[in-house]
Amino acid sequence: MTAVLAMADSGREFDLSDRDFSRVCRLIHAHAGISLNESKRNMVYSRLARRLRERELSSFAAYLDLLETEESGEWQDFVNALTTNLTSFFREAHHFEMLADLLAATPSGKQVALWSAACSTGEEPYSMAMSARDARDASAPTARILATDIDTQVLETARRGVYRDDNVARLDRDLVQRHFQRGTGSNSGLARVKKELRDMVSFRQFNLLQPAWPMTEKFAAIFCRNVMIYFDKPTQRGIMERIAARLEPRGILFIGHSENLLWARDLFEPCGRTAYRLAGCGEGN
Ligand SMILES: C[S@@+](CC[C@H](N)C(=O)[O-])C[C@H]1O[C@@H](n2cnc3c(N)ncnc32)[C@H](O)[C@@H]1O
Repeated sequence: MTAVLAMADSGREFDLSDRDFSRVCRLIHAHAGISLNESKRNMVYSRLARRLRERELSSFAAYLDLLETEESGEWQDFVNALTTNLTSFFREAHHFEMLADLLAATPSGKQVALWSAACSTGEEPYSMAMSARDARDASAPTARILATDIDTQVLETARRGVYRDDNVARLDRDLVQRHFQRGTGSNSGLARVKKELRDMVSFRQFNLLQPAWPMTEKFAAIFCRNVMIYFDKPTQRGIMERIAARLEPRGILFIGHSENLLWARDLFEPCGRTAYRLAGCGEGN
């Protein structure tokens, strides 16, 4: 009986009025660039209802008032709750083949910088690291990978580099053996990315919307995949202008399978499936 009451309490209903929902949409758009619409209403409700319970609040209005109080310390949890973090190892495998070719063609001894600009729980930058290591022979370049995301919770998971076996189950067995340590005892069912790969990746929190971008170096490849879909066109344009400024002249930008940059032909030209080079720096130049 106690358990049922506890469940009823944790499943407590709140009223998400149109006004509250519009406020959520306005705040997350201003802070993270994420555009939500009516189709996301249930998602917003279920993810933020957990925050209301956590903060022991009885209404969305009270939660949003608290959020807008500077000292609430709630902003990061609000953002973490509303991001969508779906990812996987070697998602869109052709990008990693192109990356390996790019690295193999880089002059020997040159250290290359790579950037995973919305890295989520780390599968993407670790896949980049695996591709870089496997493409490398004695004369090939080493790679340093910057991996950033706005969401601090996913970054914690990414830094640990520990994944459930089913996350690596579909990968080539030899690759798993080369790059992962299988857990034993209380860690069985888990696989950890090996230290030499973890050492290649630096995870940092970074909001693509923030006005000052701290990175000064240029990248040989930038993965900015499956994040632009959440942004409106003016936001996408601003981010793509800045990404163009951080790509090496012959560098490659990879974007998500449902994204395209046909609207930014002055900045980028296609060089493969959902892969782009700077305009004027293509194969023929
Ligand atoms: C669907 S995941 C994509 C992960 C990976 N790039 C991939 O394609 O598998 C989108 C990621 O973008 C991040 N994100 C959303 N808004 C962002 C922003 N303004 N700045 C940086 N990252 C953001 C989310 O936290 C989330 O982890």
